[in-house]
Amino acid sequence: MTQFSHDDRRKFIGWLARILMATPLVAVATTKLKPTPAVTVGPFYPPQPMGLPFFGAKALNPLPEGNDLTIGPGGRQSEGEKINLSGRVMNTAGQVLPGIRVEIWQVDARGHYAVEKAADKDPGFTGYGAVRTDAAGRYGFTTIRPQGYARYGGLIKRAAHVHLRVSGGGLTPFATEVWFAGDPGNERDSFISRIDDPQLRDRMLVRLSRVEAGLPAGTFDVVVPDA
Ligand SMILES: [Fe+2]
Repeated sequence: MTQFSHDDRRKFIGWLARILMATPLVAVATTKLKPTPAVTVGPFYPPQPMGLPFFGAKALNPLPEGNDLTIGPGGRQSEGEKINLSGRVMNTAGQVLPGIRVEIWQVDARGHYAVEKAADKDPGFTGYGAVRTDAAGRYGFTTIRPQGYARYGGLIKRAAHVHLRVSGGGLTPFATEVWFAGDPGNERDSFISRIDDPQLRDRMLVRLSRVEAGLPAGTFDVVVPDA
């Protein structure tokens, strides 16, 4: 009968422990998150609007950096219902990404983008903000609840949305849109209906179900596609 020495038994237990400890790591590595669907930045991206000069849009210079879009020049308050929008930026392995630049832009309470030439724009709304994610991959903005809009004689009708773009930290710049659960325009929005996967579509819909610093607040996590 084969006799195992004390040393052999110790080696075997060590080998077994390594196998057991390695197993969960393999399981984590194979579970990938689906990336957030990409949406074009569209014609009203404040640093670089498209269609100049046809649409009369003008790039914002200087860009109003910061996390609060509801305070305009001279401390002027914006119109519209203030909300807090926050979330995390992560990769498909679920690792949070610190130091990523997050930009958002949207229409003001009168339905205008900051880059559009319109006489009745809300002077208290900056229309654009940019922050960097913290050590936990978090970003956060104070803005207003957006409204849907129509452009080009009703040719394009959009549900309420906030544009969001992430860049920096070695990422390929990635843009998407934040939509709002319960918005009446969601059903007929061509961008929303293009996303076939119901789970992914649901992830794009923010629910303003929390209260944060006295304001309705919602979460939008961004899963950046693999390079
Ligand atoms: Fe838009």
